Amino acid sequence: MDKALLERIRARKWFYQFDLPDGTRTECYLPPGVEGVHTTRLAMLDEALARRFGPSLQGNTAVDLACHEGYFAFHLARRGASPVLGLDARPEHVADATMMAGAVGATAFSARVIDLEQAKAADIGTHDITLMLGLLYHLENPVRALRLARAVTRKALYLETQVVPHMTAMVDWGSYAFQRRMVGVFGIVDEIGEEHAPEAGVGGICLAPSIESLEWLLRKVGFASVERLVPPAGGYEQHVGEKRAMFAAYVD
Ligand SMILES: C[S@@+](CC[C@H](N)C(=O)[O-])C[C@H]1O[C@@H](n2cnc3c(N)ncnc32)[C@H](O)[C@@H]1O
Repeated sequence: MDKALLERIRARKWFYQFDLPDGTRTECYLPPGVEGVHTTRLAMLDEALARRFGPSLQGNTAVDLACHEGYFAFHLARRGASPVLGLDARPEHVADATMMAGAVGATAFSARVIDLEQAKAADIGTHDITLMLGLLYHLENPVRALRLARAVTRKALYLETQVVPHMTAMVDWGSYAFQRRMVGVFGIVDEIGEEHAPEAGVGGICLAPSIESLEWLLRKVGFASVERLVPPAGGYEQHVGEKRAMFAAYVD
């Protein structure tokens, strides 16, 4: 155990509560109660992974699109996935994730800086399991990001996002005589000027889908089956209240 490293880690607060090898836990900088957003997603991810892959992820590779400090990526590594690649636009998150991987012994993990609004599938490669948690609603091109997620996924994508109320309608399309069904919506959210915030998007213009729109899109970008994941009893209010949603999308 690297005592100096653990002291550096404990000297500050983190986005996640990491269990450290000396039995202590990092302090989370989120307001009390909000850290439930992580434990609820972890529970949903675990349940879905166990159903699809069984108790071990051995023999599977993984990528975490927007890995932040690596919490979910380390979890995949702990369950046997290897290698596990973490990607994030913020160099400071990649540095933190790399440091934390050293502390928690996530030797299968490595991380790199990339802007996922700009990245091509070839920059990322293909991976059996893809995570895209807490990213989609920070992007100005969410459909492009969903296509990217499909292109880099060999088996299963686990996606979680903030969502907005759903709406459908019949709309005029070129003339009142030509009508189309509007199948869903995105809400535009303004994060302009907040790009310095560690959890924000890097462009400031954010499009958040409705639950039904996201499910429709996941199928349209090429996932063979799509499953909405249910929050556990006592889960985080945003998941229970359908303000955030999580899906598993399978290639076959
Ligand atoms: C709300 S945090 C979610 C982190 C983690 N995936 C989770 O669910 O706990 C959003 C993350 O997306 C990253 N991010 C935002 N825009 C990005 C982009 N265009 N490309 C890559 N990462 C981005 C941020 O740096 C941050 O780590």
